[in-house]
Amino acid sequence: MCEPEPEAEPVARRLAEAGQPEVLRFWGQLTAEERRTLAATLQQLEPTELRAHCQAAVRARTPSQAPLPRLMEPLPEEAIGSVIRAEAQTLKRWQERGFHAISQNHVAVLLLAGGQGTRLGVSYPKGMYDVGLPSGKTLYQIQAERIRKVQQLAEERLGKKCTVPWYIMTSEFTLEPTEKFFEQHDYFSLAKSNVVMFEQRMLPAVSFDGKIILEQKGKIAMAPDGNGGLYRALTSNKILEDMDRRGVRFVHVYCVDNILVKMADPVFIGFCVEKEADCGAKVVGKAYPTEPVGVVCRVDGIYQVVEYSEVSQETVEQRNADGQLTFNAGNICNHFFTVEFLKSVTEEFEPKLKSHVAVKKIPHVDEQGNSVRPETPNGIKMEKFVFDVFQFSKKFVVFEVLREDEFSPLKNADSAGSKDTPTTARRALLWQHYCWAVRAGAHFLDSKNNRISPQSQFQETEEPPAVCEISPLVSCEGEGLEAYLKDRDFHLPLLLTETAAAALGKGQGQ
Ligand code: UD1
Repeated sequence: MCEPEPEAEPVARRLAEAGQPEVLRFWGQLTAEERRTLAATLQQLEPTELRAHCQAAVRARTPSQAPLPRLMEPLPEEAIGSVIRAEAQTLKRWQERGFHAISQNHVAVLLLAGGQGTRLGVSYPKGMYDVGLPSGKTLYQIQAERIRKVQQLAEERLGKKCTVPWYIMTSEFTLEPTEKFFEQHDYFSLAKSNVVMFEQRMLPAVSFDGKIILEQKGKIAMAPDGNGGLYRALTSNKILEDMDRRGVRFVHVYCVDNILVKMADPVFIGFCVEKEADCGAKVVGKAYPTEPVGVVCRVDGIYQVVEYSEVSQETVEQRNADGQLTFNAGNICNHFFTVEFLKSVTEEFEPKLKSHVAVKKIPHVDEQGNSVRPETPNGIKMEKFVFDVFQFSKKFVVFEVLREDEFSPLKNADSAGSKDTPTTARRALLWQHYCWAVRAGAHFLDSKNNRISPQSQFQETEEPPAVCEISPLVSCEGEGLEAYLKDRDFHLPLLLTETAAAALGKGQGQ
């Protein structure tokens, strides 16, 4: 049976209440289907909130007063835990604590995957991207296999079967394709019930004079409400209740595009738990002053991330007497939260989160209904940022890690330059695996069967001397590889799958 066509009157009444009657200006020209879709979109937007959103967007773009100068200070040394400076014994203790928490089913991972991946320029979710590894694995597959491995390692150590549930925040753009992709791949052998997808909210883009922008005659230009939309989405999708049911106490939140992400990293979890932190962030030293990463610092005495898009050139270039960048703690969008802290945010602090303004070129229809692709910015998108909750933390910690071990984000297409591209992401992973293999005692042979001289120094701009990819199901962090690789010669490329490892383990190597 066909759904009835929506009446204009109730839709118009809601829009009048929101101060946006013009949204219906093409109503008479829309098909029944278009009217239904438009009415459904508007139904999700509460009129008073919509009015406030449009007014806030205009105000935020043209603040009536200059912002007060804020005192931005680097992190005090003692606030930072560090994989680089910690002693091996300490790292081991943190790791054991992390594995213990995992084995108790206390740890979940939460992926922020609602972004549109505009810079990468693909029409599908970034997690489905294949950067060209020999295995052809996508980012989602790599992450899924790392979850399976960390569960397995915790089980082996503590003799207890455990689950690390995977929460995936999507948006209207990414939910359906992500669900389909996971179905097609049989959830990468994870139990479907332990992969929980939910959707964040969408908000309309607003013109500089405070009007909702129509992308088509019957379609509002909508965008996800930023990765800080997480907190609202946790409430509307009852995710914290789900975590409570499973006994989850600690959540590792991360962004989709970092090919080196350590899922539910036991060392990071153990560090945060030992420090009794309710909130934590991983950082790396910045690669260059203008690298597009936020910096973790203190502003007027409060821990915050100052986003790369909101900081002055002068500040990013600032250096200490020893030549090091003053604001060097690059945010890699890997956060630790206790479930208790997330509850306090959703129940109390979320409405206080600031909205950030992005001025963008937004395709729209003109007064005559013709499509326009603007050449200059014409509209405002408002976003909340996931890290803006740090200020509400009672105990916030920072954890410094090594870039070559943990951070290589996929942001741009290869055609757009040489930084944070599929090429750099693929290279970072292959270098990492090559170094693990060499450390485990592997030798690689060239086409004439001569051993290739090993190199242990990661070179960002070069391919590793030998192509070697190790399945996360075999090794997560380079652990346990000697059993398969020590003192053995390998032809290229080496693809160490579970099957290949099992054969090598039995002494049937190449
Ligand atoms: C983000 C961080 C930045 C950090 C950098 C490291 C934020 C706000 N900024 O910047 O400080 O240095 O990563 O790579 O966290 N997302 C959603 N919903 C949205 C928008 C984004 O889920 O509405 C997700 C994306 O899918 C992605 C993550 O949030 O997984 C980060 O978004 P992205 O736009 O790539 O952030 P960056 O600008 O690179």
